[in-house]
Amino acid sequence: MKIAQVVALFGAGLASASPASFCPADAGGVCYSIAIPTSSANAGSGNIYFQIKAPTSFQWVALGTGSAMAGSNIFLTYQDGRGNLTLSPRLGTQYTMPTLDTSSTAARLTLLAGSGVSADGSTMTANVACSNCQSWSGGQMSLKSTSAKWIGAWKSGPSLATTDRAASITQHDGHSQFQVDLTKATISSDSNPFTTTNAGSSTGSGSNSGSNSGITDTSSSDKGSVLVAHGIVMLLVMAALYPLGSTLMPLAGKWWVHGAWQTVTFCLMWAGFGLGVETARSRNMLFKQTHTTFGTVIVSLLGIQPFLGLLHHRHFLKTKSRGVVSYVHIWWGRILMVLGVINGGLGLQLASERNGLVIAYSVIAAVMFLVYACAKVCAVFLGKDRAKWVGNKETNATAPRRPYQESRGHTYA
Ligand code: HEM
Ligand SMILES: *[C@@H]1O[C@H](CO)[C@@H](O)[C@H](O)[C@H]1NC(C)=O
Repeated sequence: MKIAQVVALFGAGLASASPASFCPADAGGVCYSIAIPTSSANAGSGNIYFQIKAPTSFQWVALGTGSAMAGSNIFLTYQDGRGNLTLSPRLGTQYTMPTLDTSSTAARLTLLAGSGVSADGSTMTANVACSNCQSWSGGQMSLKSTSAKWIGAWKSGPSLATTDRAASITQHDGHSQFQVDLTKATISSDSNPFTTTNAGSSTGSGSNSGSNSGITDTSSSDKGSVLVAHGIVMLLVMAALYPLGSTLMPLAGKWWVHGAWQTVTFCLMWAGFGLGVETARSRNMLFKQTHTTFGTVIVSLLGIQPFLGLLHHRHFLKTKSRGVVSYVHIWWGRILMVLGVINGGLGLQLASERNGLVIAYSVIAAVMFLVYACAKVCAVFLGKDRAKWVGNKETNATAPRRPYQESRGHTYA
């Protein structure tokens, strides 16, 4: 036998020595371990083992096979009120409570030794064997897959304390999607791997141990395209297009340039709002978060802004000066623009966006704010905004005509 082969065998032996473990980020100590006996992997079916471990501050914790809620094979667990855990096999549905799977293809789950609430009451552990998890109604998973799709979800709260496998649960506080290289999770004997040896080597470590654990977190890369479109359109509208349109007013001094620009932006905003509503509706999230509620309010309030602009314009044509309606238009716009930018930040947070994106967004919004502020100041020095400083009454009554023509446009920025 060549040395390379020995090394390869030794490496393979090491890699297949223990279950793969994963503690999703920000899950507060929820950890999952998965183990596939070599015999099951070779046969393509048979027992697989997994462990769900979490602080008892969680009301329920679930693990599942599949890439999203809908169509997945879910293994739900919660305290039984007697110091042990209840196991409940459920079929995933799109954003509604998964109900107990009572069909003949339901996951056959067995609670194993080592399960229960710890002596000090702080953690709960479910060591589980599943004898038919290679397929379920609506999906399948090769026990040799190097990229098997799994999901997890958790909800904190008081113990459900029930042995009822059909117990009602409410929506998770968090969820995770991850890929498992099952060839790195193999165990040599078809028996509970979580009591013998040092079971679940990364208990409560707060994160998975990277690529060598065979588990990759894929949660953030699973955004729907409608959601992405909503994000891009709304961030552009609030952080760039509206401020630019406002800047155009003092800078170009032509009311119709400003009006046309903001009208196009206004239409884009409603399109972006539609995309957002569609996302929220499909995820059962309408009016459940600050972002969705606040966003709806802001967009609705902005609904009257074009009419305020028109009213101001008519007022200006008649009186050649600003009136109450002018200031309402100006400040209504400014305040809602700022609130819109803030709500965009809440949206990025809700979508658990990368920090880099949040920072980029904040920088762009801040730069746009500065551009707008500078444009206002420049306009004053260029004399285009003189009316504001000299006073409308005086300019209109006694002062000579300002440097630009009313017929061309007027300023109200
Ligand atoms: C009452 C029960 C449940 C309700 C009402 C519910 C509702 C929802 C909603 C509204 C979302 C979308 C929110 C978002 O994107 O952040 C979601 C996503 C998700 N849920 Fe649930 N859920 C429930 C139970 C479960 C269970 C038991 C699991 C088991 C693992 C689970 C796994 C997931 C996963 C992985 C996602 C993200 C992937 C996807 O979009 O499907 N959920 N759920
Ligand atoms: C929980 O139930 C399993 C399976 O019946 C058993 O092996 C285990 O010892 C139980 N744990 C406790 C703490 O009673």
